[in-house]
Amino acid sequence: MKFFIDTANLAQIKEANDLGILDGVTTNPSLMAKEGIFSTEAVNSHYKAICELVNGDVSAEVISTDFEGMVAEGEKLASLHPNIVVKIPMIKEGVKAIKYFHSKGIRTNCTLIFSAGQAILAAKAGATYLSPFIGRIDDMNWDGVDLIGQIAEIYAIQGYETEILAASIRSPLHIVKCAEAGAHVVTCPLSAILGLLKHPLTDLGLAQFLADHAKGKA
Ligand code: G3P
Repeated sequence: MKFFIDTANLAQIKEANDLGILDGVTTNPSLMAKEGIFSTEAVNSHYKAICELVNGDVSAEVISTDFEGMVAEGEKLASLHPNIVVKIPMIKEGVKAIKYFHSKGIRTNCTLIFSAGQAILAAKAGATYLSPFIGRIDDMNWDGVDLIGQIAEIYAIQGYETEILAASIRSPLHIVKCAEAGAHVVTCPLSAILGLLKHPLTDLGLAQFLADHAKGKA
């Protein structure tokens, strides 16, 4: 399973990348806004900076909601760096744009996925990645991880090549559950990635090892 970080914050991207386990980055307009990045020029230069930092796929989301706008914006984004994956929302015009980009060899990440039906449509259109938002599904008293499992089963039966990129991850447990459910990729906040490290018995055990070793120096 690949690990992406879900942020536009360069310091957090660098920290995750320094761990040596990072396979890519996802962003969205809200994450860009959180960093104070709004203009096309600023957004494009930020994507270039992310691509220079991480050797892996970087999802860059379009703002347009019509086919022509998505195509123009997506082609511009894809030309910024070979690692850019154009992120397209699951709407009617988006499905057409994914199909268009697929025919041009431009990779896409279909975002805002909340149902298996949407997942089938995105795969049929030729999306490279599919982003089900599991945390937001949990917020609605539904089970986001169940959706990952359902999509994984459908994709395996149908032989779809689209990779399931579990998004809206909120905790280390979400990462573990997505791995069990068959996600190909998880995109996570830095806190969830670092949360995987934690276990009190690891800390206690290490403290004991160091204390025992120090006895030899006394
Ligand atoms: O990758 C999608 C993600 O950024 C949404 O996460 O926590 O806003 O639901 P969240």
